[in-house]
Amino acid sequence: MAPIVRGGVRRRRPSLVARDRRGGGRPGGCPRHRRKALRRGSRDERRAVSGPAVAVTGSTGRLGGRVARRLAAAGIAQRLIVRDAARAPELPGADVAVATYADAAASRAALQGVETVLMVSGAESPDRMAEHRTFIDAAVAAGVRRIVYTSFFGAAPQATFTHARLHWETEEHLRASGLGYVALRDNLYLDFMTALMGKDGVIRGPAGDGRVAAVAQDDIADAAAAILRDPAGHDGHAYDLTGPEELTLTEVAAILSEHLGRQVRYLAETVEEAFASRAHYGAPGWEVEAWVSTYTAIAAGEMAGVTDDVPRLTGHPATSLAELLARSGPTGAS
Ligand SMILES: NC(=O)c1ccc[n+]([C@@H]2O[C@H](COP(=O)([O-])OP(=O)(O)OC[C@H]3O[C@@H](n4cnc5c(N)ncnc54)[C@H](OP(=O)(O)O)[C@@H]3O)[C@@H](O)[C@H]2O)c1
Repeated sequence: MAPIVRGGVRRRRPSLVARDRRGGGRPGGCPRHRRKALRRGSRDERRAVSGPAVAVTGSTGRLGGRVARRLAAAGIAQRLIVRDAARAPELPGADVAVATYADAAASRAALQGVETVLMVSGAESPDRMAEHRTFIDAAVAAGVRRIVYTSFFGAAPQATFTHARLHWETEEHLRASGLGYVALRDNLYLDFMTALMGKDGVIRGPAGDGRVAAVAQDDIADAAAAILRDPAGHDGHAYDLTGPEELTLTEVAAILSEHLGRQVRYLAETVEEAFASRAHYGAPGWEVEAWVSTYTAIAAGEMAGVTDDVPRLTGHPATSLAELLARSGPTGAS
């Protein structure tokens, strides 16, 4: 295996598919686009231009990993852009580049020769928006054609859920960048429903009787992979990815009770109670506000509303909570 170069690309032995793509046809897209990137790039960057046309970030995590595995299974060559090469999944047809969103030079080098990037939103931090901006700007500089971005359901400047405002800002930056972009506006992850529950089997939060149309990560990954395999017709589209049902947290608790064989209940807190019950974590204010606003957004109806975007993009029905739990085993953890 070739040495790993920070900000550079580690080549894996190409799969047959990767070799085929490099050998003939359109190895990574429009020649004019690539020539432009070549003129701009350094010698190191030029070396990477013959790489895969698709790059995936976040492949060391749950969602990006799912997408990367689907692309590999479909025989699509891809570049995995990771923060730690040692944790990159071993996949046929994949090479690995190391970059964090905050590192403009490494991101630009990692993105050389790439046409379409799946950008999984970064870890929550006070610097997250600046990191997103840096990565998007690096994509423009590298000559990337489009970004498929994992945004959030109801992303808007005044959204109740504080992170949904950041996703809106990221989408705005994408729109202004001149890149093609696709926004996957994911509802709350269905996979996290068990994590809403405390050790005492209580889901606490100021969600009132609001409903949430949570979506399974497998469904998001299916949708993302379908777009990445044939992205051209999706430019400029925002997809609202939801599950097949909108549930109150009382209904979520009932489904969890049924699956786990013990009582789970929902306790509707006031906003003040929600801040107080989370104080013992000692988390920074912005983070606690984000946690609490997940619930107030549900109360405000901002996570409600089932769409057919998952079935339309994937060709299969969206997964329900009961189905996901049955698939995940007795603890319900995925
Ligand atoms: N819709 C929802 O309910 C919901 C809930 C929670 C989070 N989210 C968002 O959805 C994203 C994906 O979810 P997930 O379950 O796949 O999360 P995850 O398992 O924590 O994976 C996140 C991935 O993003 C990478 N990453 C994080 N920050 C980065 C940065 N600054 N630069 C480059 N790579 C970075 C991580 O790399 P490392 O492995 O090196 O950390 C990891 O591969 C999360 O990152 C978060 O933004 C959505």
